[in-house]
Amino acid sequence: MYRLYCLFILAMTAFSTPAHAAQGTVNLQSLRGDTPIEKTPDADMYKPMKDAKPLPRDFVQQPPLIPHTIRDYQITRNFNKCMDCHAWNKTRETGATKVSVTHYKTREGQELTNISPLRYFCTQCHVSQADAKPLVGNTFRPGVGMQ
Ligand code: HEC
Ligand code: HEC
Repeated sequence: MYRLYCLFILAMTAFSTPAHAAQGTVNLQSLRGDTPIEKTPDADMYKPMKDAKPLPRDFVQQPPLIPHTIRDYQITRNFNKCMDCHAWNKTRETGATKVSVTHYKTREGQELTNISPLRYFCTQCHVSQADAKPLVGNTFRPGVGMQ
C-alpha cells in the first residue's frame, strides 16, 4: 500500500514538472480568457447595429433578434417598455411586431390577456442585433424543410 502511494506521488510530481507539461499539453482556454473565477471579466464591446430590418433567424425556435436599439428601455416589476409597443393592442399604432401568441400563455397552456410571467423579461431571450463574430465555430444548418 505504502509503495503504491509512493508511486502515485512520483507520478504526480512527474506530471506537474514543466518539462513534461510542455510536451503533451492541449492549449485549453475558456471563453472568459484568463480571468480568475472569482472575478467578472469585462464585457466585450460589440458595435450595435443601426436600426434595420430583423436579421433572418438561424433556427426555427430562435428568439428573433431585436432590430432596433433598446438603450434605456426599462423592464421593471411595474413597467415593461417593450410592451408599450409590442403588446397586441399597441401594435396597430406603433407598427411593431406583435409578441408571439406563445408569450401570452402560462406554463400550463392557459391563455392570458397580457404578457405571461414566463415571458416578462424580454431580454432574457431577445438581444439586439450586433456585428459580433461567433464565440466558437460550428457547422449547424437548420433542417432542409425548415430553411
Ligand atoms: C417605440 C416602440 C418599440 C419599443 C419600445 C420596442 N420595440 Fe421592438 N420593434 C418595434 C418595431 C416598430 C419593430 C419592427 C421593425 C421591423 O420589422 O422593421 C420592432 C421589432 C422587434 C423585434 C423583431 C421581431 C421580428 O419580426 O423578428 C423584436 C424581437 C423586438 N422588437 C423586441 C423588442 C424588445 C425586447 C423591446 C424592449 C427591450 C422592444 N422591442 C421595444 C418597436 C418597438
Ligand atoms: C423565454 C424566452 C422569451 C422571452 C422571455 C420573450 N421571448 Fe419573445 N420570442 C421567444 C421565442 C423563442 C420566439 C420565437 C418563437 C415563438 O414565437 O414563440 C419569440 C418571438 C417573439 C417575437 C416575434 C413574433 C412573431 O410573430 O414573429 C416578438 C416581437 C417577441 N418575441 C417579443 C418579445 C417581447 C417584447 C418580450 C418581453 C415582453 C419577449 N418577446 C419575451 C422567446 C422569448
